[in-house]
Amino acid sequence: MEITFNDKVVLVTGASRGIGAAAAYLFSQSGAKVVVHYNQNKQSAETVLGSLAGSGHSIFQADMASPDDLKKMTSEIISRYGKIDILVNNAGIYEEDDMVQMPFDKFLEYWDETIRVNLTGPAILSNLVAREMVKTVGGRIINVTSRGAFRGEPTAWAYGASKAGLNSTGQSMAKSLAKYGIFVFTLAPGFVETDMAGPCLVGEKRREIESQTPLNRLAQPEEIGRAILLLAAEGNEYMTGCILDMNGASYLRT
Ligand SMILES: NC(=O)c1ccc[n+]([C@@H]2O[C@H](COP(=O)([O-])OP(=O)(O)OC[C@H]3O[C@@H](n4cnc5c(N)ncnc54)[C@H](OP(=O)(O)O)[C@@H]3O)[C@@H](O)[C@H]2O)c1
Repeated sequence: MEITFNDKVVLVTGASRGIGAAAAYLFSQSGAKVVVHYNQNKQSAETVLGSLAGSGHSIFQADMASPDDLKKMTSEIISRYGKIDILVNNAGIYEEDDMVQMPFDKFLEYWDETIRVNLTGPAILSNLVAREMVKTVGGRIINVTSRGAFRGEPTAWAYGASKAGLNSTGQSMAKSLAKYGIFVFTLAPGFVETDMAGPCLVGEKRREIESQTPLNRLAQPEEIGRAILLLAAEGNEYMTGCILDMNGASYLRT
């Protein structure tokens, strides 16, 4: 089965690095026009842009924690392309600490920032983009969450909560938006070899993480990117509302 996205406009958030960059590249290879979103790393976003196949791609900056940035970005993309067919809510942050030993003020900041970037931002962007998809009769939204939403995150409470919240938001959106031809899918990866996981991947800790899965390795960003494309493809509307685990059997839910 060949998956093509010819003439589709795809907005991938957090595409300057890691999973987002891999997904952006794969979408471009399948014929899409890709909007490479970034926050701070303009140079990396430009490098990703330069690596894409085909033409008509662009880069846009927005802080996921800023509703004004998200409004501005959405309206500028619509001015340029006239539509957004596929939104991939991939941008995210992960910080680890001892939750009861860290200074309390730092905990408050950490909680607020993580929820704003990982949950409130994607919810706002989905709402803005869905309003446009309603006008163009449909689209797809893919949320990238995490195994941590199910397994617990002892050193990253806000991260686990943000991803569980996005799982639930995706389910609500799937129910509410199907009547407009908008289908919503969630992908929940385990450990992926990117900058985000980097601090966890040194020495013995890396080996412990690898041994969590019978494949004895981490996922590569391209593997997650391919799953994002599978979810975004035409023909799988009946999967709307799903939360797809992609963790190498490291954490199996029943
Ligand atoms: N890596 C893993 O092990 C793993 C496991 C499960 C789930 N995930 C999820 O997969 C997604 C991608 O992760 P990754 O590993 O590819 O991460 P990454 O390599 O750290 O890249 C993070 C991306 O998010 C963007 N970003 C960060 N803060 C932002 C903000 N405030 N506003 C807008 N964009 C922001 C970054 O943009 P700039 O660089 O331009 O600032 C970057 O493009 C995340 O949602 C993550 O939670 C990752």
